[in-house]
This record gives sequence, structure tokens and C-alpha cells, in this order.
Amino acid sequence: AQPTPAEAATGIPAGVFCAQDYEALAAKALAGATMAYIAGGAGRDQTLDANRAAFGQWSIWPRLLRDVGAGHTRLSLGGPALAHPLLLAPVAFQTLVHPRGEIETARAAHATETCMLASTLSSFRLEDIASAGGPTRWFQLYFQPSRDATLALVRRAEAAGYGALVVTLDAPIQPASLRALRAGFRMPADCVPANLAGLPAAPATAEPGDSRIFQGMMRTAPGWDDFDWLRAQTRLPVWVKGVMHPDDAAQFVQRGAAGLVVSNHGGRSLDGAPASLRALPAVRARVGKGTPVLFDGGIRCGEDVFKAMALGADAVLIGRLQVYALAVAGALGVAHMLKLLREELEACMALAGCATLADIGPDCLLPKPANA
Ligand code: FNR
Repeated sequence: AQPTPAEAATGIPAGVFCAQDYEALAAKALAGATMAYIAGGAGRDQTLDANRAAFGQWSIWPRLLRDVGAGHTRLSLGGPALAHPLLLAPVAFQTLVHPRGEIETARAAHATETCMLASTLSSFRLEDIASAGGPTRWFQLYFQPSRDATLALVRRAEAAGYGALVVTLDAPIQPASLRALRAGFRMPADCVPANLAGLPAAPATAEPGDSRIFQGMMRTAPGWDDFDWLRAQTRLPVWVKGVMHPDDAAQFVQRGAAGLVVSNHGGRSLDGAPASLRALPAVRARVGKGTPVLFDGGIRCGEDVFKAMALGADAVLIGRLQVYALAVAGALGVAHMLKLLREELEACMALAGCATLADIGPDCLLPKPANA
């Protein structure tokens, strides 16, 4: 499609009518192997597919004549107020899809009042991402093989003004994606984690006869004591990303987590794990209203955001849509994608009779009968 004059003037790519349209454009813009790496899940994509399918099991119940004239999407997750509940999920190595990677994403987050979660494995240093972006940013932390190295990252995030740490615990090892392997994907040599320059790499080799997994890759994986240690090192709120089981959720809350992210890493960790949307109600039920719960996995439109909020999320993280928009149009693409997604959510709220996020609850949904 030719861009309209308005699109040509703004630089918005032609053919984008909804946030998900960036996916098809990214598939054209990126090399096939790169697209396979981003779009794919771990193993056979069972959990990846389940994440999407779970949204299809719910309908949204329209309501009539409700006054939403004072409607808004504001919320607070413990820190400064947020304008809307769409946060940018941590995504590693963004120079894979755009030469200025996370710098562009940070600019988009600023322009759209979005909280960005910068990955430990970013292509740019967390300090550079902070200076490129707005005031609302969190740092996604991966435990490093030594506590000294982990603490160095924490101190840098504090100094750079990150408002929270989000420690991702669901991927101490990441099984390969068969889709990416079969497409011949290799991480380019210049895609390196800028934050970890100079830090020692994990000593992952096992002795002969040992398991490559248990005694190898998992040797430096964190445990509960590391979580307690981390909490004691910082005054920043510590969130946990990757929570799927209500018993884990309860443990983290008891040990002082500021909030939880129900997530299965976008289907990129345990292949065979349930859809994150299925895990969400049980986690919410266990931790009650007092603990903020975020959600990610499979969100592609505003109606998906609404369903996640109805099933217990306070806000959501956007993963792949962010990467696709970045690949197609840099900061402008990410900002445009977020604007479209936010408008889809607002339209959905209005037609479901919800003036505020607090009005979105389980009674806004109807389960779909099988085959309906
Ligand atoms: C991720 N994700 C991720 N999570 C994390 O905690 N740290 C990271 O560095 C990364 N890196 C990363 C790279 C790529 C290419 C993808 C697709 C995902 C997981 C991410 O934060 C989020 O949980 C999922 O992407 C959410 O699912 P959707 O929105 O992609 O379906």
C-alpha cells in the first residue's frame, strides 16, 4: 500500500491499521532467521501457541448506557502514577532489529509516557538507555554468576535512576527454539550484552560424566537465598518476573517482593508450560488485592489487554509487538504501536462499560463454549 499524505508526513509506515500489523511488516523487513528467533518459542512452540490460544477462550461482555465521560487509564504500581497500563517488556539485544536498538525504544517510551523495562542483556548500557528515555524506567535483572557482579548491576541501575528492579527467574537456562535452529539463526557477533562488558562469564562446563544441565548450566543458577540477599541489598522495589505457580507467588510475597509478573517468558522457557493467561487467576487469587500483579504473554491487541486485566492483572508488558514495531520504524514505530494499542484498550473499555481500570473485572468476561 502507498502511504497516505498524512502517513508520508509523519513517517508512519503504510499498511498499519492496528498494533499487530507491525508483525507482518517486520516479517518482510527482517531476515527469515532473525524473524524465526524473535517470533519463535522454546522447543516446539507448544507454550507459545498456548499463550495466544488462551485469549480465544474468552469473550468480552458489552454493557449499555454506562457513563464513561470521565474515563481514563491511569494507575499506580507503587511508584509515580502511570498514564496507562502498557509497559514495555524487557527484550534483549535490540540491535538485532534496529541499529539504535534500546535507544529508540527508550525514546518511544518517553513520548508515550510508558514505563520501559531495560534488559540486563541490552545492546546498550543501562546508563545510555536511561539518558535517552523518560522518567519512568525499571531495570530487568538477571542474576550473574557471582554476587559481586549482580551487585554491580544493581548499584548502576540505582545510580541511573531506575525506579524498580525486576528480577527474571524463569530462564536460568533457555532451551533452544527449534524454529530458530531450523531457520539457521545465529546471534550476530556484534550483538553483545553491553551491561556485562568486563564481567566474568559463567563457568558452565561440567566434569566428564556430569550432566550438562544440572552440574553445567544450572551450577550458578540462583536460589531462594539469593532472592533474600538481593532484597537486602537495595531500597528499590524488587519485582519477580516469570511467576506461574500460586505457591511460588505466595513465597515471593512473603519474602518481600514488591510485585509479581505472571509470565512464561513469551513461551521461550519451559515448552509445555501452561498459557500465562491460564496461570493468572490462580496467582491473583493467592496473593489477594494487596500485591500488584503484571502479566505478559501473547498480547497482540487491546482486547487481549482487557482480558488480562479482567483475569487479575494490574497492567501488562508488551514483548514481541515492541520488537516488530522497532524493526519496522524505530522509535516512531514503537510509539505508534503503543498509541494504537492504548486506543484499542480504551475503545474496549468504553463498550464494556468500564470507565477506569478498576472497573475491569472477571464479570466483564464470558467463557466461550468449546468450538464457539
Ligand atoms: C524476551 N523476553 C525477555 N525477558 C526478560 O526478562 N529478559 C530478556 O532479556 C528477554 N529477552 C527477550 C527477547 C526476545 C526476542 C523476546 C521475544 C522475549 C521475554 C519478554 O520480556 C516477555 O516476557 C515476552 O516477550 C512476552 O510475550 P509476548 O508479548 O512476546 O507474546
